[in-house]
Amino acid sequence: MKILSGIQPSGKLHIGNYFGMMNTMISHMESSELYVFIVDLHALTSVHDRNRLSAGTLEAAADFLALGLDPDKCIFWVQSDVPEVCELTWILSTLTPMGLLERCHSFKDKVAKGISPSHGLFSYPVLMAADILLYQADRVPVGKDQKQHLEVARDIAQKFNNEFGETFVVPEPAIDEQTATVPGIDGQKMSKSYGNTIPIFLEGTPLKKQIMAIQTDATPVEEPKDPKSCNLFQIFSLFASKDRLAEVRSLYTNGGAAYGYLKLELFELISDYFREARKKKADFLNDPEELRRIMKKGAEKARQKASVTLAVVRDRVGLSY
Ligand code: ADP
Ligand code: TRP
Repeated sequence: MKILSGIQPSGKLHIGNYFGMMNTMISHMESSELYVFIVDLHALTSVHDRNRLSAGTLEAAADFLALGLDPDKCIFWVQSDVPEVCELTWILSTLTPMGLLERCHSFKDKVAKGISPSHGLFSYPVLMAADILLYQADRVPVGKDQKQHLEVARDIAQKFNNEFGETFVVPEPAIDEQTATVPGIDGQKMSKSYGNTIPIFLEGTPLKKQIMAIQTDATPVEEPKDPKSCNLFQIFSLFASKDRLAEVRSLYTNGGAAYGYLKLELFELISDYFREARKKKADFLNDPEELRRIMKKGAEKARQKASVTLAVVRDRVGLSY
């Protein structure tokens, strides 16, 4: 089984990325053929600052490695190091119906949030389809926000297979209901582009500040509250032990849950949870040359796989003579 997923280096990676995708990917390392990559070409649709993009790419690589991704047990690379993906994107774009892209919520949401509606942003899902189809991935673990993009990739794969003969595996999304949408501190989906995140590697006072800023309602401590609609509870549940979670759930339903205390407890939980990884990340960032070496080696492995698919595609569509 080939499992593949990518992440944008467009800002500090956050606990929504961790539970929605990174942790799931790392857990598949022993049992599957795993493809993990940092999608810097996608990030170009929103980041036009060379230093921010290149530093973000290196930092995202350090994040994954610090969290336990072993580059010898998977293929781990930076998207732009495999230019084959751009060629496949063009070929796929010639059979992607405009209407399919016009329906994408993500494009409409990003434009509504002020990102310039460039052609790249519009065709973002075609590049994502190429990412997936180039490696013949069977399953793609993502958060719920990417479900529609996966449907676009499936549609494009089927269309290509119908027109040119069976070529691509039609990929299945893998969305874990428990962590499909981790809420941000304002209760919307946690996202780098909404400024509402708890970054994975934040620590000390800035982490405490961010946790204390999680929005809660004004229900008095002694009154019952609904845990399901409380974003503090949702975030707390990602880190607390089963027993502690059961206790806190009963404080919510019977009265007695004090948001301030729970936030301080959450601060301790998050600090502990990523303590080891924080140290490892610092080590990786202290040796950027080693990081680059790891990523370039991963790209070589990815390119070998990519070139096999691309040769078949070129032949199927008539780009060989
Ligand atoms: P962001 O929205 O912060 O820019 P990305 O688009 O780079 O995040 O997403 C990388 C991966 O993390 C994707 O699989 C995405 O679905 C997942 N993800 C992002 N935010 C969340 C969230 N709040 N909850 C669950 N998964 C998420
Ligand atoms: N669009 C995805 C996101 O923003 C990132 C991504 C790019 C991706 N290519 C991919 C995810 C291929 C899975 C598979 O989260």
